[in-house]
Amino acid sequence: MSHTIKYLPYSMVTPRSVYLSRRRFLATAIATRAGSQVAAAAGLNFVKSPLSTSEKQTPYQAITTYNNYYEFGTDKSDPAKNAKTLRTRPWTVAIEGTVEQPLMLDIDTVFKIAPLEERVYRHRCVEAWSIVVPWIGFPLSALVNLAKPRSNAKYVAFQTLYDPKQMPLGKKAGIQLPYVEGLRMDEAMHPLAFLAVGLYGDVLPNQNGAPLRLVVPWKYGFKSIKSIVKIRFVEKQPPTTWNIANSNEYGFYSNVNPEVDHPRWSQAKERRLGDLFMHPTQKFNGYGDQVARLYAGMDLKKNF
Ligand code: MTE
Repeated sequence: MSHTIKYLPYSMVTPRSVYLSRRRFLATAIATRAGSQVAAAAGLNFVKSPLSTSEKQTPYQAITTYNNYYEFGTDKSDPAKNAKTLRTRPWTVAIEGTVEQPLMLDIDTVFKIAPLEERVYRHRCVEAWSIVVPWIGFPLSALVNLAKPRSNAKYVAFQTLYDPKQMPLGKKAGIQLPYVEGLRMDEAMHPLAFLAVGLYGDVLPNQNGAPLRLVVPWKYGFKSIKSIVKIRFVEKQPPTTWNIANSNEYGFYSNVNPEVDHPRWSQAKERRLGDLFMHPTQKFNGYGDQVARLYAGMDLKKNF
C-alpha cells in the first residue's frame, strides 16, 4: 500500500446533509404530488448507538470518493468510478466451517439479523489517513450467534466476492484475490466488531463495500473487508490478504498502534481527510479501554 495523501478538493467537504435534505425534500414533493405512500427516501431504519464517537463526521463526499477497494483499481479515486459494475442483488452470504448447521443467507435476511443501529466510528487506514464514519449495521456477534459455531472454532475467516467480469481491474490489483480477512473468535464477539450495511443513513455505496462489510474500528482499515460472500468458522488462524502480500509489513492482528511503525513510514500520526495537519494516532485507535484486555500478556510488537 502506498501512503500518499491526495489533495482533497473543496467540493469533497460539502456536508452530505446539505444535498440529502434537498433530495429528501424533492422526493417528498414528488411522493405527495403522486398521492403515493412510498417512503420519501430510500433510507434505512436504525437506532443510534451509545457506542458512537461524538467527533466531527467526515463528509459523505470524502468517505465515498477516497477509497481502497483494489478489485476496482488501486488509485483512491478508482473505486467510486468503477464499482458501479458491482451487482449487489441478488447476493448471498455463505456461513460454513465448524458450525452446527451451514447456512446460505440471502442479503435481505442478513439485513434483518438484528435491529440496525448507527455507529459513528473512527476508521484509521494503515496508510496514515483517517475518517469518522456514521456506519449503519449490527454487531458481528449477532451473526456469530445465529451461525452457532462449534466449540473448536477459534477464528472467523471472511471472503470478498471475486468476479473478474464485474471486477476487470482485479487482475491488476497486485494482491491475491479473492480478498480474505480474519479475526480471532473473541475479537469477533467483541461488542465493537460490526457488520455494516449502510452509512449516512442509506445502504452502502458499492465503493464502500456493498452490500455487507466488516468494520473493526480498533484495527487498521484493511481488516475491514468489503462485499462479503463467505464467513467460515475455523480452528487455525486463517490467511489474510495483506499478510500474504507482505508478511514483514502486515500482520494478522493489525491493531492500530502508534508505537509500532510500518517498515516504510511512521504510524505515530495520521491525517483526517479534510484536515490540513496531522494529529497523534491513538493506541487501538482510541478504543483501548474497551479492547486492550483482548491482548493482555501479548507482545504487540511481535504480534503486529
Ligand atoms: N476489502 C476489499 N475486498 N478490497 C480492498 O481493497 N481495502 C481495505 C478495506 N477493505 C479493501 C477492503 C482497506 S486498505 C481499507 S483502508 C478499507 O477497506 C477502506 O474502506 P473505505 O474505502 O470504505 O474507507
